[in-house]
Order: sequence, then structure tokens, then C-alpha cells
Amino acid sequence: MKSFIFKDTQCSFVELPPATHGKTILEFFQNNSDYFKLCEGREPNQACLDDFFNDAPDNFVSKKKSWGCFADHQLKAVIDYIEDYPETKTVFGGLLLIDQAWRGQGFGRRIMQIFRETLMQQGFEKMRIAVLEQNTNALKVWERAGFKEVSPRKKKIFGNLESVVVIMDLSL
Ligand SMILES: CC(C)(COP(=O)(O)OP(=O)(O)OC[C@H]1O[C@@H](n2cnc3c(N)ncnc32)[C@H](O)[C@@H]1OP(=O)(O)O)[C@@H](O)C(=O)NCCC(=O)NCCS
Repeated sequence: MKSFIFKDTQCSFVELPPATHGKTILEFFQNNSDYFKLCEGREPNQACLDDFFNDAPDNFVSKKKSWGCFADHQLKAVIDYIEDYPETKTVFGGLLLIDQAWRGQGFGRRIMQIFRETLMQQGFEKMRIAVLEQNTNALKVWERAGFKEVSPRKKKIFGNLESVVVIMDLSL
């Protein structure tokens, strides 16, 4: 667990075991359904929760991790990722989702800073993310954070939508 202060509020960044936090996370997804409508063309449901905890290529399910950030005992952000994928010492970031009321105030940047420090301490050297082309705000946020597009864009189905995927890397 890592604790930090954001805007006078004590925040805790903790690993989330699925068995204990599934309901909380699904409610969090439902309260922040804009992402799922934009990127997956669906309301958040059990399948989104399963993806958050388990979606990983064959042989990498055990490398999947899910973290949450609580402030005043309420979930304000989640992030999932796969360790050592697609190669050793690289982390493949999944969904970073911030509570709508907490966006645009530097909270995402702070979480990424803590996440990055944690990964570096663990010996990871690179972070890779996949951003969907229609998620123009996120593309700007990641570019601002120093991520660079690294390979040709490809189409892939997420939820009910076929989207163009932008792969971006950041050296840690
Ligand atoms: C994308 C997301 C994680 C960013 O978190 P956030 O708390 O809103 O972002 P921050 O306020 O910390 O902003 C981070 C930086 O991006 C910049 N930024 C934020 N939104 C921006 C926008 N629409 N256009 C340009 N820059 C933007 C900020 O100015 C800030 O820059 P700085 O570090 O130089 O000050 C958050 O908005 C979110 O949860 N969105 C919905 C889910 C999602 O799309 N996740 C990403 C999936 S790939």
C-alpha cells in the first residue's frame, strides 16, 4: 500500500484482490460509464469487471495486477496492468480510470507518478499502453506524459465496438 496526500485528502493506493472488491469496482465502473460507452459501446457490466481482473494473453493471466486508489474510504481510481508483457521488464498498462469528479485536476498525473515510481523500484524499464483512437482526451494526456506512438495502428474489437488501437511506449 502507498499513501499520499492529494488536495488535503489522504489517499491510499492498494492492490485489489477480485474476490473482495468486485462489487465496489463494478459500482465504480457504473458511476463512470462514459469510458465504457466511448471505448466499448456498452454500459459497464460483469464482462468489463472480468476483463479488468483477468483479461490477458495466454500464459500471462498470473501476471495481471489490479490496483485501486481510495480517498476517504471511497474508490477514486483504478488501474490494471500486465507485468513482463509483451517482454521482460515491460509493463503493459490496461485501464486507468479516474472518478469523473476527480478528473482534470492533476490526480491522474499523480497516480501515474506513483505507479511509475513503484514500477521502477520493482526493476521495470518500460511501460506500454494501448489507447483507442476515439479516446482523444486520453491520447493527449499520454502524449503530455511522454508516451510515444511505436507501431502501426490496428483495428481490434473491445466490447461492442471495433476500434483503432494506438500503441504507445514510455521509458521509465
Ligand atoms: C485519462 C485520465 C486517466 C487522465 O487523468 P486526469 O486526472 O483527468 O488527468 P490530469 O488532470 O492529471 O492531467 C494530466 C495531464 O494531461 C493534461 N490534460 C488532461 N486532459 C487533457 C486534454 N483533454 N487535452 C490536453 N491535455 C490534457 C493536463 O493538463 C495534465 O498536464 P500536465 O501534467 O502538464 O499538467 C482520466 O481523465 C480518465 O480517467 N479518463 C477516462 C478513462 C480513460 O480514458 N482512461 C484512459 C484509457 S487509455
